[in-house]
Amino acid sequence: MEKLLIEGGTKLKGKVKISGFKNAALPIIAATLLAGDKCTIENLPLIKDVIVYKEIMSKLGADVSLNNKGVMEIDTSKIKKCNAPYELATKIRASYYLLGAALGRFSQAQAPPPGGCSIGNRPIDQHIKGFEALGAKVDISHGIINCTAEKLKGEKIYLDVVTVGATINIMLASVLTEGKTVIENAAKEPHIVDVANFLNAMGAEIRGAGTDVIRVQGVNKLKGCTYSIIPDQIEAGTYMIATAATGGEVIIDNVIPTHLEAITAKLKEMNVEVKEYGDSIKVYAPQKIKSVDVKTLPYPGFPTDLQQPMSVLLCHADGTSIVTETVSEDRFKYVDELKRMGARIKVDGRVAVIQGINKLSAAKVAASDLRGGVAMVIAGLVADGVTEVENAYHIDRGYERLENKLLSLGAKIKRIKI
Ligand code: UD1
Repeated sequence: MEKLLIEGGTKLKGKVKISGFKNAALPIIAATLLAGDKCTIENLPLIKDVIVYKEIMSKLGADVSLNNKGVMEIDTSKIKKCNAPYELATKIRASYYLLGAALGRFSQAQAPPPGGCSIGNRPIDQHIKGFEALGAKVDISHGIINCTAEKLKGEKIYLDVVTVGATINIMLASVLTEGKTVIENAAKEPHIVDVANFLNAMGAEIRGAGTDVIRVQGVNKLKGCTYSIIPDQIEAGTYMIATAATGGEVIIDNVIPTHLEAITAKLKEMNVEVKEYGDSIKVYAPQKIKSVDVKTLPYPGFPTDLQQPMSVLLCHADGTSIVTETVSEDRFKYVDELKRMGARIKVDGRVAVIQGINKLSAAKVAASDLRGGVAMVIAGLVADGVTEVENAYHIDRGYERLENKLLSLGAKIKRIKI
């Protein structure tokens, strides 16, 4: 077990480079299954979830290597079926993408229900509804999801909720399927577009990704390609918020500013200065920030993955803020930890009322999940004293070299084994 020690009170200053997008990287690695060929994927973030995915693909029979620059070479030609290894697949949420990809290539897929962050009930009924509409049989027995099909056929699928996972999974299952698939009420997140671009680079015919209607014209075969993952919108937003919280001044490099508009708009509303320069963004924070209300929504709304870091920032705002979580069911677990640092937050269901205070005070706290964990790190950066964040492994699932990046910005942070 490892924990992070953070001595608060330093303003973040300098320049930080954002890594590739975790939530695009994982489905893209799964999607290489569809090619049955060699792919080169560049700009992968070197995070735990990517390492776990690499091990899963290797166990399935892929020839796969990943270098320290985030370049993966993967050849999936020798894989003949997909029975996802239980221990590894239950470690991460994105293992469910193996179902769509393998169903598309082999008309067969087996995987355990996904793992990932404990942020409430996270059903996959819309994924299953999509697979069944394409002609697959899906059953769950002995804790394993089994998908089989004699022949998949394109169909019109209306999603009952806007879901990133089901939108991508149905795209994966339908690219090699006869006929046309139309996904209505599709999610519009940047990583949906990135996955569609990757599939199209392999020869798929997908139109409309990034809008709420995606059309997939099935093709007979895909081929390998070289593809570079987009920058991580959530990692960038995390550094923007951390800069604002510490009253610092940071240039956040390798970003797509349009993906950050919801965060930029909120920060500006709080009197934080944000300037865009092509593929970088500069955040400059005043001494006192204004309280604001925040509601998480599917893209282009404010991302649920930044709700926890944003709430830490709001602890220091002048006045009271209301945060409403509409996407995830139970994403306020970290609040109890934050209260140990003196935060004044009242949670009622999906709403948190945050009263701004002068300063958080350092305490021993634990990361409850990935984004809740990074929120505690931001709290430690601004608190009075040395904060200890236990369960650092949650953070390692999604942030590449977090301590190194923060150290380069002047933070006082170190990792110790316990
Ligand atoms: C993905 C991201 C996660 C992010 C979330 C929302 C990955 C690995 N994870 O998670 O970081 O917080 O998107 O942007 O990419 N739902 C259903 N039925 C379904 C699927 C979803 O009811 O079949 C509901 C759930 O209540 C869920 C919400 O829709 O909380 C959003 O789900 P979805 O966008 O699919 O999120 P995840 O795949 O869980």
